Amino acid sequence: MTATRRAARIRALAKINLDLRVLGKRPDGYHELRTIFQTISLADTLDLAFTPGRKTSVEIEDVLEIPDNLAARAARLALEAMRVSGKVEIRLTKRIPMGAGLGGGSSDAAAVLLALPALAGRIILLPNLGELASQLGSDVTFFLLGGTAAGIGRGAELFPLPDGAPRRGVLIAPGLHVSTAEAYRRLSPSLTTELQQNKIFTFSSRLWSGGGAEAGCNDFEAVVLQQHPRLAALKKRLRRAGASPALMSGSGSAIFGLFRTGEEVSRALAALEGENAFRISLVSRARYRKMWWRALKEHIAPNIWPPQSRYAP
Ligand code: C5P
Repeated sequence: MTATRRAARIRALAKINLDLRVLGKRPDGYHELRTIFQTISLADTLDLAFTPGRKTSVEIEDVLEIPDNLAARAARLALEAMRVSGKVEIRLTKRIPMGAGLGGGSSDAAAVLLALPALAGRIILLPNLGELASQLGSDVTFFLLGGTAAGIGRGAELFPLPDGAPRRGVLIAPGLHVSTAEAYRRLSPSLTTELQQNKIFTFSSRLWSGGGAEAGCNDFEAVVLQQHPRLAALKKRLRRAGASPALMSGSGSAIFGLFRTGEEVSRALAALEGENAFRISLVSRARYRKMWWRALKEHIAPNIWPPQSRYAP
């Protein structure tokens, strides 16, 4: 009997941080965060296939040949957790710029964690999925949830926020690779305990007022924009084009601006001609889930989150 190969095409969305505060260094070496994550329409595509078999192999095809790809690591972790063996094939089409603070690698990894069980006919319970995600990286867990969410701790402790009004924007990826670890190292000495109380309160009061896409702040801007004046200039240009807010995402280097109307976005894009700028929209949790259910339709039971394989025993 030939083993069944099951396949799906998945869009792995990028994220931006609508707000990001770094409080201080934790005993585990990571930094304590308060952030608001938001999924956006910019996405990588993963063609994922699973064929059961006695031997396990993970093949990844990606023109950029990203070393030690997080998506392949996610596949191995998921197979181990499901106690399943077989061949995983991943074809990755990258559109999310790397080293830009957009969580592209994390989103690819989360996409594998969500989709592989559906194809392999197994269920990984949500707490276990969360644990696998946080082993892969601090941002991976967010993509198990999507929409708008507050992240605390390392950023993997997540609290869903209500879907806000649809917003559009412009994202500029200036092709500058910022190392997250390096950005934390530069920021760390300026973090004092005294500032923390104020940051915690202004952050939580933001959540009380809905937490949505209003003026935010990103603590990394203080170190990253200073080091790269080109990024500060891009932020200023977005502001001048009417963006509110105009903010860096994560530890950079992508800068985004949100606008009220599609015309404002078109005008801003025209003003930014020559830059690597994208039209984006904020993707709500409802849209995120619908997108997932559609992508895995033939393999899952309808309307259950996280997706549940219809082949599961
Ligand atoms: O968890 P992830 O691999 O995405 O983090 C990359 C680096 O960023 C970590 O090695 C750590 O140096 C730093 N980091 C941190 N505090 C966080 C998240 C990341 O110091 N909350």
